[in-house]
Amino acid sequence: MTPRKIIIDTDPGQDDAVAILLALASAEVEVLGLTCVAGNVPLPLTEKNARIVCELAGRPDMMVFAGCDAPLVRRLVTAENVHGKTGLDGPVMADPVMPLQDTHAVDFIIDTLRSHADGTVTLCPLGPLTNIATALQKAPDIASRIQEIVLMGGGCFEGGNITPAAEFNIHVDPHAADIVFKSAAPIVVMPLDVTHKALTNRARVEAFRALGTPVGATVAEWTDFFERFDKEKYGSAGAPLHDPCVIAYLIRPDLFKGRHINVTVETGSELTMGMTVADWWRVSGRQPNAMFMNDIDAAGFFTLLTQRLALL
Ligand code: RIB
Ligand code: CA
Repeated sequence: MTPRKIIIDTDPGQDDAVAILLALASAEVEVLGLTCVAGNVPLPLTEKNARIVCELAGRPDMMVFAGCDAPLVRRLVTAENVHGKTGLDGPVMADPVMPLQDTHAVDFIIDTLRSHADGTVTLCPLGPLTNIATALQKAPDIASRIQEIVLMGGGCFEGGNITPAAEFNIHVDPHAADIVFKSAAPIVVMPLDVTHKALTNRARVEAFRALGTPVGATVAEWTDFFERFDKEKYGSAGAPLHDPCVIAYLIRPDLFKGRHINVTVETGSELTMGMTVADWWRVSGRQPNAMFMNDIDAAGFFTLLTQRLALL
């Protein structure tokens, strides 16, 4: 089976890091490059962290690109309170040695889509959508070339995680999200309604540690650190592994359930800025523009994740 060509757009973040490891461990996908964006932490850290993760995976050959360092319109909001000062708090990680590419991430996205046959490259945004929206603005022709955009972001019945109404990735750059959801590219959304069901727990974290590898130990330490925020805030059993849901969908779409509906992003009201207004009951009359997931086989997800991490 021909691996699916993907670009991962990311703001590592521990959960981004686990998503990147899952992708690099899985023959079903071919990672053409990592494009980094400001989000969980500022851009100089997200691009550094992306390289740290590639080296942990034994892939210093992977191309990593720095992209946009601020949202299209709003001031950057970061999440050190969740991810720590480095964005990858938990274990102490050595500085990366592998290089950062000179090309801007937005140009890499555009050039890659233009140099591959239409419908053969999937974009996997795991952070604010600033790079993706900037690429669409700079090169409108790429919208029809994208195979699919499979993104982590938004929420419906689950509400928000940075405001009562908005999920972090969409809230940080709602104007970018608005451009993406209006692009007419095929979109699959992994919202909080799904990712809050992909929770670590002691047994699942110990299964990472029991791999007995540097990857297993590092992922266990990342999730130990990352889970404290959600446990305090939601009283949940563990950490929601938000971003790995995107990659797991590419490998095992059968683990997920959702429906094709209209998703529109709030960019006017400060009260609900960045809210994904997901028309789950199809009452708005607005055209469906996204496959909005709302359920996951969490046990199957963690089995897949652990099995693949064991390969690194
Ligand atoms: O709201 C969760 C999302 O925001 C995840 O992608 C996490 O990494 C942060 O970027
Ligand atoms: Ca992220």
